[in-house]
Amino acid sequence: MCGIFAVIGSREVSSIILDGLRKLEYRGYDSAGIATIDRSKTDQIGKLNIIKSKGKLIKLANLIKEKPPQGHVGIGHTRWATHGKPNERNSHPHLDSLAQIAVVQNGIIENYRDLSKSLKLKGIKLTSETDTEIIPHLIGLEIEQSLANGLSPNGQTLLIAVQKVLTLLKGTYAIAVIWSKAPNALVVASGQAPLVLGFGEGEFFCASDIPALAEFTRTFLPLEDHEIALLTPLGIELYDVDGNRQHRPPSLLEGTELTADKKNFRHFMLKEIYEQPEKTQFWIDRFLPMDLPLKNSLTFPISTYVLEKIEQIQILACGTSRHAAMVGAYLLEQFAGVSTKVYFASEFRYAPPPLSPNTLTIGVSQSGETADTLAALRMEKDRRDSINDANFSFHHLGITNRIDSSFGRELDNVIDIGSGIEIGVAATKTFLGQMLSFYGLTLLFASYRQKRTPQEILDLSNDLRLIPKQQTDLIKKHDSLSREIAHMFVETKDVIFLGRGINYPIALEGALKLKEISYIHAQGYPAGELKHGPIALLDKHVPVVSIAPPGVVYEKVLSNSQEAKARDARLIGVSTSGQGAEMFDELFTIPKVSEWVSPLLTVVPLQLFSYHIAAHKGLDVDQPRNLAKSVTVE
Ligand code: AGP
Repeated sequence: MCGIFAVIGSREVSSIILDGLRKLEYRGYDSAGIATIDRSKTDQIGKLNIIKSKGKLIKLANLIKEKPPQGHVGIGHTRWATHGKPNERNSHPHLDSLAQIAVVQNGIIENYRDLSKSLKLKGIKLTSETDTEIIPHLIGLEIEQSLANGLSPNGQTLLIAVQKVLTLLKGTYAIAVIWSKAPNALVVASGQAPLVLGFGEGEFFCASDIPALAEFTRTFLPLEDHEIALLTPLGIELYDVDGNRQHRPPSLLEGTELTADKKNFRHFMLKEIYEQPEKTQFWIDRFLPMDLPLKNSLTFPISTYVLEKIEQIQILACGTSRHAAMVGAYLLEQFAGVSTKVYFASEFRYAPPPLSPNTLTIGVSQSGETADTLAALRMEKDRRDSINDANFSFHHLGITNRIDSSFGRELDNVIDIGSGIEIGVAATKTFLGQMLSFYGLTLLFASYRQKRTPQEILDLSNDLRLIPKQQTDLIKKHDSLSREIAHMFVETKDVIFLGRGINYPIALEGALKLKEISYIHAQGYPAGELKHGPIALLDKHVPVVSIAPPGVVYEKVLSNSQEAKARDARLIGVSTSGQGAEMFDELFTIPKVSEWVSPLLTVVPLQLFSYHIAAHKGLDVDQPRNLAKSVTVE
């Protein structure tokens, strides 16, 4: 979603801001803009330069190249439209009436209508449809007042004005503000939307995500909720919500995980699909080494009390993360015997189930920033904390790929899935990482509760250890097969995905991947549901993808597939070769594995299938239209 990059220092900043924004492109956006302050040689007052454009960053880059805006301080933004269409007028930065203050914002100001009304009553004309534009106007009014009261036009005056305006805002925000009369100042603030400060050599940065900073500095400090900072060429002053100066040491970014490189792949998504065997191996080496007894080897942040005493688990997640949670719920219930329910985080927040005692709440989010999931977790924590009864305590666990995210900061117990940065908006390797975490949890619960024999636990562990090699073979085989057949689906409008049991979530995930990147309507169903309605859609124009690995429901899924075949649907199978498989028009063969581990394999050809259809159609695979990598609004 929206991205912020801001910098202040002693060199020209426009190209630095552009580089920073490029690193945020993967989050998804539809317009972009920058503002810099060109400091006059004769006095301290600068001139505000603004350049904005609809569409991709390359357009903004061309405009900047034509007439580079001068300045040693600047703010940049990639906008993912919420309030108002994606056009130049609505793109950030937004200005006050005197065009002296420029603001970029992430998040949503929920009371912007009321604030707009009061601004209009004061004679201020709003020129965009955004919720953001009220902010520079409100800051402008505060500054006018301060100057009238004798304050000087400098960074402190800007800081005070921003502090006052923040008290008026309801909702979520991360903002960066510059003022032409204070060219040595940059003010940034965060309210339930992430911002990270970066400490360079003679220059200071702020961005909504660490990857944007990694090229410039490896010393960073995430802002805590409702903190505000004044950045000058000399340093950073950090304040809490009450205006108290804060002193926290920054952290050092290690490794290269956050700097993304496409290598020789045409798209990040394909590279990320190819990385899966290596990521699975990494997970096994970390959590499931051969030589340790299981209980010691799975070093998850989960207490023995929770493992032994919890009566049920509730999982909150969205999109692909929810599909991983559904695989997890199947494993936890069916293998480990713990009653588990998965909720859409967005629904849970407004319609929570009655409070159950001795419950573990798990939040799953690859980005760790999904507003719906964070809000649902906060709500659950609050309602449990408000009850003075140990049986209703907030036992929780987060599963994320971004330990540096709000998940990492707000939750005490977090599993880092360690998939490495994922740039493709369509999640692939992080989905795998999330599923693997649930396999780990399942093994742990099963062994603590003695729900399974040691042999069953050993079998599942050993089956997991074989997965990396099996995934490698699958990718090799099905990358070419998917590429070969992709052209057949260019005109396709609808696809149905069928799966049962542990592979029903994989049907949902296969359908979601296809929708997201190829813009083909696709729906996943439990295979047994086909005859209860969706079968009415079938004819030769509606292909059906059946996920049918060997297992308890194998024959059933084949029968459901036959029902589709009888309606002339083109049948694509994800199954083992052999008896029954001849019915498929196209077959993505998978090895004969235990049904428990099959989702770790069946999803792979589906990812490749979607990828090649989208790539064949010449679509923007890594940044599909309207989607964002980090969905930071409700
Ligand atoms: C995945 O391909 C999607 N882009 C989307 O459904 C995503 O899974 C969802 O928005 C949740 O994101 P999160 O994992 O970062 O919370």
